Amino acid sequence: MRKNIVAGNWKMNKTLQEGLELAKGIEAALAGKTPNCDVIIGTPFIHLASVVDAIDTNKIGVAAENCADKASGAYTGEVSAQMVASTGAKYVILGHSERRAYYHETPEILKEKTILALANGLTPIFCIGEVLEEREAGKHFDVVKAQIEESLFNLSAEDFGKIILAYEPVWAIGTGKTATAEQAQEMHAFIRKTIADKYGNEVAENCSILYGGSCKPSNAKELFANKDVDGGLIGGAALEVDSFMGIINAF
Ligand code: G3H
Repeated sequence: MRKNIVAGNWKMNKTLQEGLELAKGIEAALAGKTPNCDVIIGTPFIHLASVVDAIDTNKIGVAAENCADKASGAYTGEVSAQMVASTGAKYVILGHSERRAYYHETPEILKEKTILALANGLTPIFCIGEVLEEREAGKHFDVVKAQIEESLFNLSAEDFGKIILAYEPVWAIGTGKTATAEQAQEMHAFIRKTIADKYGNEVAENCSILYGGSCKPSNAKELFANKDVDGGLIGGAALEVDSFMGIINAF
């Protein structure tokens, strides 16, 4: 049975001290409660080890926002999947549209990152999604299918079964313009069918597919009520305890 998940992506926000305060604040807000979803926080590399030490990672999973496409060596400034795993983080966000657009991450690079993440025991939260022009041209299904095929369909069924997907229409990220519940459900159902066609129904039914893009407490319930929307990857609203908790409590 697939999991419901609410994952925060802090992006390039919060000093180390602010990040620790936020992580502890979320933990305090969850104290004594059993949310109806898994809770993950995705932090900048520099926060990872400290955040893992500061909170109970059995209650709140910790994710890196990226990892290198090389295992180790002379790659100045890069952080490997093995290094991420050595902090105690269990997840890594890969393929975010900001990484694709601003840092030129290609499907081939993302394929390598995914392989290395899995080899080091990390669970990838793999992002896919179309830009506005692609949706307006009616190409959004083709674009999303290609993103999955090109970076993930090399995996065995067992390895694919470890992936969390996050559908993030780029036009909805940080814009305040959320996909409608119908648009989200339509794409999530398409993604699940794409997985089923390749790996079979069991793998598809067990895959958690999150929605991301201007998700907030006021719209999370409506989005999460859809049968193929298994939670959210949250940017702006993950930067404050109250708004992040409002989304967690939407389940
Ligand atoms: O990874 C998170 C997404 O990019 C969504 O960001 O909630 O600020 O729109 P947002």
